[in-house]
Amino acid sequence: MVVWTGMKRHVRILLVGDTGVGKTSLILSLVSEEFPEDVPHKAEEITIPADVTPEQVPTNIVDYSATEQSEDTLSEEIQKAHVVCIVYSVDSEDTLDRITSHWLPLIREAAGEQRKPVVLVGNKIDLVDFSTIDHVLTIMEDFPEVESCVECSAKSLHNISEMFYYAQKAVLHPTAPLYIMEEQD
Ligand code: GTP
Repeated sequence: MVVWTGMKRHVRILLVGDTGVGKTSLILSLVSEEFPEDVPHKAEEITIPADVTPEQVPTNIVDYSATEQSEDTLSEEIQKAHVVCIVYSVDSEDTLDRITSHWLPLIREAAGEQRKPVVLVGNKIDLVDFSTIDHVLTIMEDFPEVESCVECSAKSLHNISEMFYYAQKAVLHPTAPLYIMEEQD
């Protein structure tokens, strides 16, 4: 048996999800601490220095835009990421359904043998007066790579830093076993 501690010197977080769910807004809200009214299709990759992250680890945050990037690039970004946040919009059942019909299978395919931790992020909670968490918990039962889930709002800044903290935590303190078995000849 080989013990693999999985300790990382930095954390790379990739945000994916259907168009318009608010990926770019979430990143820019975190950085500027205010809701950006006009956002580009894709935010530049940003690095959060270790001393301002809860886990004291430098953290890269990477946006994805289907408008600007090919599926091959998405696949490469999934492989490079330590954790993938699948963002959906709590006011759109379609974007919630696509977590299991599209995004989780796509991440599994791109990650291959690797287990890629995932955090489910329900954005735009300011628009609704209900919660999608019960539904999301059933997804977690079927897809063990889903480490956690959170509802948030880029607009009201609700749970924004928490969302990125959960992503860091999924890499640094995963719930899955931290060992791999090695076959002996
Ligand atoms: P693509 O670039 O097409 O992939 O979209 P995206 O997922 O990056 O979404 P984007 O950040 O461009 O936001 C899409 C729209 O949703 C914009 O009009 C945002 O202002 C709006 N939006 C983003 N977050 C929130 C939120 O928390 N609440 C509300 N009410 N609107 C939001």
